[in-house]
Amino acid sequence: MKIFIDSADIKEIREVAGWGILDGVTTNPSLVCKTGRPFKECVQDILAAVNGPVSVEAVSTDSSGMIKEGEDWAKLDPDKVTVKIPMTVEGLKAVCGLTERSIKTNVTLVFSMNQALLASRAGATFISPFVGRLDDISQDGMDLIHDIVGMIDDYGFDTEVISASIRHPLHVIESIRAGCHIATIPYDILLKMTKHPLTDAGIKKFYEDYQKIPRT
Ligand code: G3P
Repeated sequence: MKIFIDSADIKEIREVAGWGILDGVTTNPSLVCKTGRPFKECVQDILAAVNGPVSVEAVSTDSSGMIKEGEDWAKLDPDKVTVKIPMTVEGLKAVCGLTERSIKTNVTLVFSMNQALLASRAGATFISPFVGRLDDISQDGMDLIHDIVGMIDDYGFDTEVISASIRHPLHVIESIRAGCHIATIPYDILLKMTKHPLTDAGIKKFYEDYQKIPRT
């Protein structure tokens, strides 16, 4: 499974890129807002730091506005920029238009199989089902990931599924079990994924024993 970071914080993104595990980045207006920085400046820094798709959200509500935003963002880096499009009728039209222009898309705020089917048929490069937000309303988000990945595999669609709105390391493990193509993971959860108490205990013991080895 490929790993994206779900963040607009350039320090976090550079740090994780340095681990050698980063395949891409997803952002949204809420994440950019948290940085306190101008949107374009944020995106330019991320594009320079990462060798992979960078999802940038369109905020227009009509398809022509979304396409215009997408064209403008794509000028920054046509290979990496992926335009994040909300799952609406206008969004589907925008995905179709951007696909015709060879601009990558990530259909976001996907909460059902039907939405996933429509986004995929419209030509979405990626679709992002939001696991945590479904869990929040007592619907198992991981069930949706299983169903959508099954559909993509059964029909041989080209769209890749991004497990999004991940809230804890178990969501990542379940995404792997579901055969999901990508998980977009917040920085604090990536850090948790590095940890295991037996690793810490092992390092401590090896260091203690190393200190006891006679020096020549
Ligand atoms: O990738 C989508 C993500 O940013 C939403 O996460 O935790 O706000 O539901 P959350």
